[in-house]
Amino acid sequence: MSQPHPAIDLAVIGGTGVYALAELADVRTELPGTPYGAPSGPLRIGALGGRRVAFLARHGERHSVPPHRINYRANLAALQQAGATRVLALNTVGGIAPAYAPRVLGCPDQLIDYTWGRISTLCEGDAEDGRGGAVLHVDFGEPYTPSLRAQLLAAAAHAGVAVVDGGCYGATQGPRLETRAEIARLRRDGCDLVGMTGMPEAGLARELGLDYACLAIVANWAAGAGPDPDATITFDEVLGNVAAASAGVSRIIAALLAG
Ligand code: HPA
Repeated sequence: MSQPHPAIDLAVIGGTGVYALAELADVRTELPGTPYGAPSGPLRIGALGGRRVAFLARHGERHSVPPHRINYRANLAALQQAGATRVLALNTVGGIAPAYAPRVLGCPDQLIDYTWGRISTLCEGDAEDGRGGAVLHVDFGEPYTPSLRAQLLAAAAHAGVAVVDGGCYGATQGPRLETRAEIARLRRDGCDLVGMTGMPEAGLARELGLDYACLAIVANWAAGAGPDPDATITFDEVLGNVAAASAGVSRIIAALLAG
C-alpha cells in the first residue's frame, strides 16, 4: 500500500512558456499513473510560502505535447490523486478584446468550446476508474469556480498586480493559430481571448469535483485583432511576452498561498 498523501494547498498547471515554478523548494518528483493513463510529465511537489504546491507542465516540460494530444483527464486525476482540491490553470492566450493586450493577465469567467475530437468527459463508458460508469451531467453555467476566482482576484489586488476581471475564453483546436476570419467569428460570439487548452480541462475539473480557475497570460494579439491587422504571430513573441508577465504571475501565486 502506498502512503496517503498530505494535502496539496494548490495545484498549478503551467501552459506554453511556463514549464516550472522557480520558487518551489524541497521538490519531490512523482510520475503517477492514473485510471486514464499518464499525465503530460512529472508532478513537481514542493513548498512555496510555507504551503504545499504541486506543479504540472500541461504540454510537458519540453513542450512536446500539442494541445489536442494532452491527456487532460490524466493530468487532473494525477493532481487530485496527489491530494489537490483546487487547481490554478495558467493558460497562454491570444487577446481579442482591447483590454486583453499582450502581457496582460486575465481571469476569464466564461468560455466557449470550439475544440473537437478530444476526450472531454470522464463518462466514456469504462468503469475502471471506480466511478461505476455513472453518467455525469455537471452544472457548467459558471465554468470557473467562483470562490477560487474571487481568491485569485483578491490575491492579485493584494500583490498589486493588475488582472482583468472577467471575459470569455474561446477554446480552439490548434495547434495552428487561427485565421483572421475565425478570430472575427470568435469576437462576434463574445470571446475576449483565445487559447487551445482551456477545454476540456475546465469541464473535466468540474466532473472531478475540483475547484478550478484560469489565470490567462496574453502572449499576442489574436489574428487580426491588434493595431496592425496584418501582423504575423511568432513563437518568439509568444514566449517573450509570457516571460515578461511571469513575475506578476509569481506574485499572484504567492499572495494566493498567503491568503
Ligand atoms: N490563439 C490560440 N491560442 C493561443 C494564441 C492565439 O493567438 N496565443 C497563445 N495561445
